[in-house]
Amino acid sequence: MQALKADNVYPWEGKIQRPPEGEFIKLNPDKSISVPDNPIIPYIEGDGIGPEITPAMIKVVNSAVEKTYGGTKKIIWVEILAGDKAEEKTGDRLPQETLDFLKEAIVGIKGPLGTPVGKGVRSINSALRRAFDFYSAVRPVYWMGQPTPIPNPERVDVVVFRENTDDVYAGIEFFSGTEEAKKVREFLIKEMGAKESGFPEDVGITVKPMSEFKTKRHVRKALRYALETGRKNVAVIGKGNIMKATEGAFINWAFEVAEEPEFKDRVVTDPEAEPGEGQVKLSKVITDQMLMQLVLRPEAWDVVIAQNLNGDYVSDLAASLIGGPGFVPSGNIGDGYALFESTHGTAWDIAGKGIANPLSITLSGAMMLEYLGWKSAAERIYSAVRKTFEDRVGTPDVAEGFKRIGMDAKAVSTSEYADEIVNRI
Ligand code: NAI
Repeated sequence: MQALKADNVYPWEGKIQRPPEGEFIKLNPDKSISVPDNPIIPYIEGDGIGPEITPAMIKVVNSAVEKTYGGTKKIIWVEILAGDKAEEKTGDRLPQETLDFLKEAIVGIKGPLGTPVGKGVRSINSALRRAFDFYSAVRPVYWMGQPTPIPNPERVDVVVFRENTDDVYAGIEFFSGTEEAKKVREFLIKEMGAKESGFPEDVGITVKPMSEFKTKRHVRKALRYALETGRKNVAVIGKGNIMKATEGAFINWAFEVAEEPEFKDRVVTDPEAEPGEGQVKLSKVITDQMLMQLVLRPEAWDVVIAQNLNGDYVSDLAASLIGGPGFVPSGNIGDGYALFESTHGTAWDIAGKGIANPLSITLSGAMMLEYLGWKSAAERIYSAVRKTFEDRVGTPDVAEGFKRIGMDAKAVSTSEYADEIVNRI
């Protein structure tokens, strides 16, 4: 793929560049951000199709910002390395200078990063989440005109808030047959009253931690978002009937947050009541019910607050309703710090062919603009993407989707698709 030639893009050149015309975003004591007109935004190109889709996103975002603000605002893009490219250039898959720069810059965006299997390599995505405490993964799922597997996909407009730091992803596991598993089993049976029938000798155990602090900060973020964006129906999900100490507690803590002074008058929790002007309604829904409802009547929900594992399932199911993860953006958000990213993986099977769909990272770029407070520029991107679907033009996966439902469509390459979007901005 050709390198980006725009004058506001600074690729990594032996080290991270520090363009004098850019300014860092500031993190305020209340964890809000102050965004200059020329913010430095670090980007990680990503592995596999990353070098194709990331330049496409930058091109589209640049065009939207330029058209909206006529040169008074401009992003200064600075490349930071992670993944295969970082390993090749520095010998380290996640260099310290990447972490340091991201910390200075507060907000960034990334393409997909692969996790090599069986080499004892830990996921960079998890390392980034931990380093910046990105405790909420925010996944807006909305239809923009693309071919979908369901009728009336305009009914889908839901934002999944997936808790990002708790739950079975903690990696505390004891494999069947190990001394550790034996020890934990004995402890549970002898000291904690667990029944032997539930813990046969060959048992393997995964620990599922869930804490009040982590749940509540996540729920606050989701409720604030719902209130700020005028979304009405918020569900907190979980199998609280089965896992009372974790998912049940998560649901209870969510309702405790609704009672806090910040939310008390604005969050309706009575199942019979309707939310008024400036209010949202918080409901409890069992996870399996939510999965069914999202398919049968997706219009019922505006925001879903989920634990880590349930959020993983629910966000992928919701994305599938509107065509798959290739069509949805994602943001990892903590206390001010945010890293936006494509939701799909590295797609090595199509890498280098110029056919990857750049929409997920492009819409993540638009979501990032919203986060910066540059909403009009984000709107321009949404509207231009909608027009590409109206005109039935897109990467081969989009064109094939249209053909499957009996509509003709024009297939274009990744960079041509970026141009098609730019032409409609
Ligand atoms: P994948 O998303 O890379 O690929 C699944 C299928 O979807 C492939 O057939 C691929 O060609 C297609 N696909 C994915 N993105 C596409 C796009 N933009 N346009 C057109 N087709 C697209 O999932 P897979 O194979 O499970 O994962 C590959 C690697 O990516 C793994 O190492 C995994 O850990 C990593 N990964 C990274 C993520 C991230 O950085 N956030 C998220 C998911 C996976």
